[in-house]
Amino acid sequence: MTHKITLIPGDGIGPEVTQATVRILEATGIKFEWEQFAAGAEAFEKYHEYIPKELTESIERTRVGLKGPVTTPIGGGFASINVQLRKQFELYANFRPIKNLPHIPTRYPGVDLFIVRENTEGLYSGIEHEVVPGVVESLKIITEKASTRIAKFAFEYARKNKRKKIHAIHKANIMKLSDGLFLRCSRNVSKDYPEITYGEHIVDNTCMQLVMNPYQYDILVMENLYGDIISDLCSAFVGGLGFVPGANFGDQCAIFEAVHGSAPDIAGKDIANPTAVLRSALLMLDHLGEYEASARITTALEEVYRTKEKLTRDVGGSSGTSKIADSVIEAMQSDYKPQPASQASTA
Ligand code: NAI
Repeated sequence: MTHKITLIPGDGIGPEVTQATVRILEATGIKFEWEQFAAGAEAFEKYHEYIPKELTESIERTRVGLKGPVTTPIGGGFASINVQLRKQFELYANFRPIKNLPHIPTRYPGVDLFIVRENTEGLYSGIEHEVVPGVVESLKIITEKASTRIAKFAFEYARKNKRKKIHAIHKANIMKLSDGLFLRCSRNVSKDYPEITYGEHIVDNTCMQLVMNPYQYDILVMENLYGDIISDLCSAFVGGLGFVPGANFGDQCAIFEAVHGSAPDIAGKDIANPTAVLRSALLMLDHLGEYEASARITTALEEVYRTKEKLTRDVGGSSGTSKIADSVIEAMQSDYKPQPASQASTA
């Protein structure tokens, strides 16, 4: 069977890390047919569209995308391609596992938690206007439908994967109506899952609690902006942004992408860590039912990371993006030990 995948390499470090990932995926022997498209500024130059029609049609056809980061201009310019794609395809659940890889030096070993971020509304609705010069209004949209849907996603994931605890993260003490609604929906959904402990934490306290003791959390569910910020905070538990994968799930399709951005400070130097995109691709393999290949790459990656020199610079090594891909492929070919297939389901 051939898997048709829409590939968006992105810009900045995107092409380097997605290329490394694609090489590793192809080395599994699984057949992929990549439909590759630019997005953002690069696409605009070619097609005069930031999200070309051909890209939209490809995702509608394949229903699965692997995406590198895309740069968003700051304080002006076009709207985030990432946010637009999530809204356009109703990819309402942004799922981000925060899990240490063995042998990666971090301050917090053994972290194992999940961020479930609502992906389609909140302050990322992008509804902003200037009321009068010097006064700008940004609207935070919270709906019962989207809040209930994301809470159900989190609880279903917990039930299927035997996770024990969910915390809803909020600021309902200040945003009494919007975050209040989000909380009410989470609470209502929690009643259908009595085997899962449900708690609520205010977002600023959550940041402190996470840094003091990340082990107290299991699954965190929250609206868009809090999810964005807390994801970067949590990435530091597992070695930084080079390690945290992500998946955007909707009812019709899914796009897999790392938490990190286009990292212009290190782009084009072959030094970016491809692990976060590779781990996103592992989520994609699980989504496609290719559990054995996913386990095989995981074993190889862990094997590579036994040797400090094989790490990238972000975690004290001296290796590079393409070199990591070479090492993982070599480990897959020379040291293949089959692992029990993980049936963990995210959908
Ligand atoms: P960033 O995530 O690109 O970089 C933050 C820091 O982490 C930088 O020091 C960078 O070098 C480092 N870093 C990130 N990924 C790394 C990797 N794989 N290996 C080693 N180091 C890595 O965040 P920043 O600089 O705030 O954003 C840059 C651009 O990316 C912006 O235009 C932003 O809008 C965009 N962005 C796009 C995302 C997406 O496409 N999903 C997500 C986040 C940001």
